[in-house]
Amino acid sequence: MADTLDFACSVNGEPRRLRVRSDQRLIDVLRHDLRLTGTKEGCGKGECGSCTVLVDGQAVNSCLMLAYQADGTAVQTIEGLARGDRLHPIQEAFVEHGASQCGICIPGMIMAAKAFLDRTSSLATPEQIRGALAGNLCRCTGYTKIFTAVSRVPASRSPAPLAPEPAAPLYFRPRSLEEALEILIQRSGEVRPIAGGTDILVAAKDGKANLASLFDLTAVPELRGIEEVGHDLRIGAAVTHAEIVASPLVARHCPALPIACGWVGGPQIRNRGTLGGNIAHGSPAADTVPPLYVADARVEVVSVSDRRDVMISDFFTGPRQTVLAPDELIVAVRIPKRTGVRGAFLRLGQRQAQAISKVSVAVAMTFRGGQPEWARVALGSVAPTVIRAPETERALLAGGYEGLKRAMEAIRNEVRPIDDIRSNREYRREMAAVLLERAIRQIAEA
Ligand code: FES
Ligand code: FES
Repeated sequence: MADTLDFACSVNGEPRRLRVRSDQRLIDVLRHDLRLTGTKEGCGKGECGSCTVLVDGQAVNSCLMLAYQADGTAVQTIEGLARGDRLHPIQEAFVEHGASQCGICIPGMIMAAKAFLDRTSSLATPEQIRGALAGNLCRCTGYTKIFTAVSRVPASRSPAPLAPEPAAPLYFRPRSLEEALEILIQRSGEVRPIAGGTDILVAAKDGKANLASLFDLTAVPELRGIEEVGHDLRIGAAVTHAEIVASPLVARHCPALPIACGWVGGPQIRNRGTLGGNIAHGSPAADTVPPLYVADARVEVVSVSDRRDVMISDFFTGPRQTVLAPDELIVAVRIPKRTGVRGAFLRLGQRQAQAISKVSVAVAMTFRGGQPEWARVALGSVAPTVIRAPETERALLAGGYEGLKRAMEAIRNEVRPIDDIRSNREYRREMAAVLLERAIRQIAEA
């Protein structure tokens, strides 16, 4: 059963203290409680972007956030853009270029464009605009005019409005790791942690998860941050995909990981989805996991009484199954630093953005005197869990065209793909070899 709780946020610059049910999504509170109906619900699953609002200046899908997860933040909706009778420059550009047809997608498009333009210092390129709006669908297919409108708006860095102090009860939003672990022990079996929520809220929409049983980890400082600790790079479990994409440290020590994070969902999903959540979900198609395999990463797991490091390759026991006990949380991922490592990540999906991988390949290599010295290859979506390909790795060490030819042969034998709704086993087997070849070419040219 859902509880009632109070939390604090600002909405369009106005401080608010809101009383909500613990299972209410942000979109529900905006549309029904606050009557801000400019925010639209299309899919309710993070696929269309019509519900996009800004939280602390970042575009998010309000259908994939529990309302109380906005505690202590500044929320901006489409209603907050115009100043009296004066439209915001992005709205003016949409009007001027006829970028709206039925209009359902437009508030989400404009909010996603605002988040992007607020962070862009010069006139945006078409490629950047397409990337910024990759999480937004227009069913009227008015993309050309929408992209034109966005391209005509000068970039303006408007600061995010001030947010109030958080006010949600610790029980729903613990402020320390200790508090979070206590909740797991005290309500064992009754509650589940949530971070970005980009998987659980989709499952809830399909009736497969109970939103009332969730508590939020995003205010736990021990789960945040990317830092060098001794011989390791440590990435907190609640670090988002967008933060990893932007991190020079991750690019240096685990080059395949930011590439993979850049493929996860659209910008709204990358702003909310976390590395720890992607791992805990246990999907063999999780894009972040093959790069962690090739980096020999360890998953740092804690409970009230214990702390352990689990090799990423030992963490998964089957599709959506892991060794994580009910009283444990993932706090971080540790990646051994390796000098001069080069990496690549490639994947095939049904379409470019917002698609689950049919096959993915991550490669990491080091070289000495131009010859391969160390190689790791891992694949997603070709077995019940992500797998390493040791024969392929050995073949790559031979170097040159001969090594690549042998590696492509080896990888066809090492994958164990299945037929499913997204693809069939023969296609996946062949594409694993093709992606490997492309990955090796990228690494050679890096
Ligand atoms: Fe489609 Fe939220 S309603 S992404
Ligand atoms: Fe109709 Fe985009 S204008 S969905």
